[in-house]
Amino acid sequence: MSNSLSQVDLIREAFHYQSRFEGSTMVFKIDFPVTEDPLFPFLVKDLALLAQTGFRVVIVPGAKEWIDSVLAEYDIVSAYTDIDADSFRITTARAIPFVEMAAFHVAARFMTGLAGSRVDAVIGNFVRGRGLGVVNGRDMENTGAVDKILVDSLNKALSQGMVPILPCIGYSPAGKPYNVPSDEIALTVAAALGAVKLFFVSLNGGLKTGSYSFPKNLETGDEGRIIRLTPQEAEAVLAANSGANGLRPLQELGLALRATRAGVERVHIIDGREEGAILRELFSNLGSGTMVYADEYESIRALHSRDIPTILRLMDPLMQQGILVRRTAEQILEKKADFSVFEIDEQVHACGALHEWGEGQAEIAAVATDPLYSDIGLGRRIVGYLIDKAKKKGLRRVFVLTTHTQDWFEFLGFQEVSVESLPVKRQKIYDQSRRSKVFALQLISQGA
Ligand SMILES: CC(C)(COP(=O)(O)OP(=O)(O)OC[C@H]1O[C@@H](n2cnc3c(N)ncnc32)[C@H](O)[C@@H]1OP(=O)(O)O)[C@@H](O)C(=O)NCCC(=O)NCCS
Repeated sequence: MSNSLSQVDLIREAFHYQSRFEGSTMVFKIDFPVTEDPLFPFLVKDLALLAQTGFRVVIVPGAKEWIDSVLAEYDIVSAYTDIDADSFRITTARAIPFVEMAAFHVAARFMTGLAGSRVDAVIGNFVRGRGLGVVNGRDMENTGAVDKILVDSLNKALSQGMVPILPCIGYSPAGKPYNVPSDEIALTVAAALGAVKLFFVSLNGGLKTGSYSFPKNLETGDEGRIIRLTPQEAEAVLAANSGANGLRPLQELGLALRATRAGVERVHIIDGREEGAILRELFSNLGSGTMVYADEYESIRALHSRDIPTILRLMDPLMQQGILVRRTAEQILEKKADFSVFEIDEQVHACGALHEWGEGQAEIAAVATDPLYSDIGLGRRIVGYLIDKAKKKGLRRVFVLTTHTQDWFEFLGFQEVSVESLPVKRQKIYDQSRRSKVFALQLISQGA
């Protein structure tokens, strides 16, 4: 695929997502170290762009490290206590004015950046807080939890096109300030506003194989990045790494899982130092971090007539190179029921067909993957789907005729067989000039 064509594809993909999510709410929890990165102004510009384009953007800045340094400056030493395996700072009455000051300072960094992009923003008391009281025999003083999110006030600000910024402070109805974990604010605000997306922007950038134990067959992208997980898969990853749950990437995964259970459709964990990471995660199918998704995101389904131009476009370069046999739109339409497509977010990115030839055998053909989506398991899964389809039909063998892809089919368990072992009808039209090799997979053992 030429560069200009792939650029056009990316633009199309961006428009698709823009129209799909326009007017919906997105919450961004951004860890403090990201605000110190040289690329931070660009990240805020991207958030401003989203707000200007019609997305309802809410920002929850993390301020932990900045609070630590402000408290240290004023010689205030914090004690910590563990609650449900999470470590909580005990914010004393003496510390809370400094914690407020630090939290609002970090919020102001976002405000400044947004003002520079001419986007109205408001740092507000949108979080009702309540004290944790006495835990493990210790008075938690001004350490709090989210009591409730003031949804009406937030919606008012959002409907006026403003970006609400929520520092990690919650106020009791009597006006007492509590230091509330910003992760918790992000999660509850996303659930309360019915956000379609929640982003955790940190320096970690999602999960990578190699660092943790993962169930087999998870899709990976560049450098072993785990592209996406269902809530069930996220749960399995957390269980397999229970000894390391204190590590931030796994904490983020735990938060993502809780958010999907609270009704947020998609949670993205991305690296705030990567320029354009938010836009890439938002406007392209493969994103740049790890996504936990609770909605219908991808599926393999039967071909519809309207998909024919798309699959012809996938197959065309391969037909020109002689890798796939030439087919016209009419021929595909005629065999429509044989074809299946792999769809990601309602866009087709791979296809394949299963043609029955009698004698208990079917041919797997026309397998093609969008080159922008290669090597992430689409081909393997569509072939797996076609094999299942053949099994359900009670067929005993599937075969494939290939000139270029024998290694791949061998890798999938196919073995080379003779042309003479093909069903007679298929042998008759075997193209001697292509000299394709035949590979087959036995579905029912020969003796059975
Ligand atoms: C073959 C094809 C369908 C694979 O699609 P895909 O979605 O990229 O494949 P997957 O992600 O499931 O598998 C990728 C693995 O197969 C390997 N692979 C891809 N094409 C291969 C080939 N032609 N020969 C050997 N191995 C191949 C990749 O290196 C990768 O290996 P890794 O997992 O060790 O990194 C795709 O490359 C394609 O469209 N090829 C042209 C059409 C074709 O040959 N069709 C088959 C004839 S019907």
